[in-house]
Amino acid sequence: MALDEVLAYLQAHRQTHVDQLCDLLRIPSISSQSAHAPDVMRAAVFCAEELRSLGLEATIVEGEGHPLVFAQTALHADRPTLLMYGHYDVQPVDPLDLWHTPPFEPRIEDGIIYARGSTDDKGQFYAHIKALEAYVRTGTELPVNLKFILEGEEECGGQHIYRYTEQHAEQMACDAVIISDTALYNETTPGICYSLKGLVYMEIRVTGPSRDLHSGSYGGTVQNPANALAQIIAGLKDAQGRCTVPGFYDDVLDLDAEERLAFAALNYTDDVLREETGAPGAAGEAGYTTLERMWARPTCDVNGLLSGYGGQGAKTIIPSHAMAKVSMRVVPNQDPPRIAAAFAEWVRRLAPPGVTVEVENLHNAKPVLVPRDSPMMQAGIRALRAGFGAEPVFIREGGSIPIVGTFQSCLKAPVLLLGYGLSTDNAHSPNEKFHLENFWRGARTSALLFQEAAGR
Ligand code: BES
Ligand code: ZN
Repeated sequence: MALDEVLAYLQAHRQTHVDQLCDLLRIPSISSQSAHAPDVMRAAVFCAEELRSLGLEATIVEGEGHPLVFAQTALHADRPTLLMYGHYDVQPVDPLDLWHTPPFEPRIEDGIIYARGSTDDKGQFYAHIKALEAYVRTGTELPVNLKFILEGEEECGGQHIYRYTEQHAEQMACDAVIISDTALYNETTPGICYSLKGLVYMEIRVTGPSRDLHSGSYGGTVQNPANALAQIIAGLKDAQGRCTVPGFYDDVLDLDAEERLAFAALNYTDDVLREETGAPGAAGEAGYTTLERMWARPTCDVNGLLSGYGGQGAKTIIPSHAMAKVSMRVVPNQDPPRIAAAFAEWVRRLAPPGVTVEVENLHNAKPVLVPRDSPMMQAGIRALRAGFGAEPVFIREGGSIPIVGTFQSCLKAPVLLLGYGLSTDNAHSPNEKFHLENFWRGARTSALLFQEAAGR
């Protein structure tokens, strides 16, 4: 049978596919650092050329920000069309000294590949490309039409893909959007993700005196920006761990009883959390389990904090300014612009007199919720079950994939989130990794999905 040949091809080319993935991982495509802009372009060219070599028509779309890659197979009217999304940009690598080997020199040890971008997201979307390759190289008829939209700005909040999607909805028209940029439930259980959190990322800048002052001469006479910022931050949460921004919870869609039961049945314990994170214990909003907090409750966290003297020994100053980056992960049906405005207003109210406070909205992503009972979802479940050889569970994710909300509204197609990574793969951290077994199983799953989506 033709599908057997496809799967046999994937099996026979496991090592070659890993070697090729390593070539992609060697490109330091860090989108937030302008010095790496040529590398983001190289990653785009790598992907476009590979898709072209498989017979697709592929274009590198240049415009504002980093390039996009759009590619498609020949389109047959009688076959459903899948739009495969992925991102070839990666997060910065610092702190570099915590990496055991350099982030852009992929290292394989015990069946695990270590490199920046391995799980997030090069290894994951590359599995789709390998699945396609297996059809093309074995001469097996592809039961679906495939379109690829790959971007280089997912990690830096770039706007290019939003504009493109809004202006090219017809070109991108599809019966489903397939995304592998999330995680399995755990090492032995695949997950099908039906909700992503959104994001509201704010920067707070507090300014006091025109320069750092001697804290003996002036301490106690002017407002200290570091103290003021601490006061603001402390005011953002109450003793129950709830965010105090007025109206913050107004639009939050509560979990239904079925979801709460399904979450509980997954038996995610705080011991597992401790083991995964290295934190001494669980903490968060009162009245919710850890998995409920992680997957379905909005959060408010300081992501960066800077003020005053941080060097060796003591230095007695009143710092002239202080800065914090604060992000809120938002859930369905919270509205990011509305939350951003309420946050800015609230921060100004929390600020003590005697400092100037500026609040800037750096970037936003919409939360996502997809129906669990669509035929595409069922196709995804069957593909995961066969690809991973285990029963998938429904999961949600605390992370965000900003473009998904726009795919939903512009393309009006169901979105399928089939994650091949692990939450412990160190995405955004030192020693990011991807399990080769998950790469191979992912490619199998994608190959099977093409059949399942076509109802074969
Ligand atoms: N692959 C992640 C999204 C993700 C994170 C899925 C955690 C599952 C678990 C994605 O590449 C990512 O990191 N997104 C950013 C978006 C942000 C920069 C707007 C995120 O969630 O921080
Ligand atoms: Zn990421």
